[in-house]
Amino acid sequence: MVREFADLETLSAAAAEKFCRITQDAIAARGRCTVVLAGGSTPRRPYELLATPMYRTKVQWDRLEFFWGDERMVPHDHPDSNFRMANETLLSRIPVSEHNIHRIQTERGAPQTVAQDYEEEIAQVFHLPLGGQPPAFDVILLGMGADGHTASLFPYSDALDETSRWVVPNHGPMPDIERVTMTPRVINTARHVIFLVAGADKAQTLAQVLEGTRDPQRFPAQLICPVLGELAWFVDFAAAAELRRAKESGGLHA
Ligand code: 6PG
Repeated sequence: MVREFADLETLSAAAAEKFCRITQDAIAARGRCTVVLAGGSTPRRPYELLATPMYRTKVQWDRLEFFWGDERMVPHDHPDSNFRMANETLLSRIPVSEHNIHRIQTERGAPQTVAQDYEEEIAQVFHLPLGGQPPAFDVILLGMGADGHTASLFPYSDALDETSRWVVPNHGPMPDIERVTMTPRVINTARHVIFLVAGADKAQTLAQVLEGTRDPQRFPAQLICPVLGELAWFVDFAAAAELRRAKESGGLHA
């Protein structure tokens, strides 16, 4: 499902609404809601909105468990840290216990160690054996880069071919640092996956990802296809421009 919005503000409000509904349903069904947050800049506004009175009261924050889909290998208070962004915009503004905040602990050592530790933490929270079937997170938020990457699954990178691990190290540009990322296997087991995509620089890629030839090495976002869960794309008009043009004219630019 692709939902288009005039701008980042309306996209963010709709994403915040959707987030609230998912948490309410998950808590009603299972008593808690497991959330995987995205990094990058697009989710900033949805996170900020969720912390405002209008949305804040719609969520039972103490029933949420927070995780991250990827992290840059920087200290947790570094400007490039995905944890820091979510903490500043949302987590520090809502009533959530630190026991429910499962950040990727980059200070634990090399990326491989950090990734393994994170798999162990996920396994513990879900009471699952490590290395078996991954858990079904209630909702995974993702962004998409103009190169078609999502989480830290970059074009032609090793993590794209990973079929058994839940979390792996991977290298990524912009910023040019080591990362740790959830694998497609985990993301595709989620109950809801929501992409948040805004900006004209993503228009060509978004059209290729959604309507172009399948080439997930080049466009890793094409790997995301939940097995049983729901996939939603929340995109602004600028990002959707080429999609719309292609639909109107009956084809994509090569
Ligand atoms: C990261 C992200 C990454 C991000 C996209 C989109 O750590 O960089 O998790 O996958 O979501 O690059 O980022 P923007 O929202 O800033 O365009």
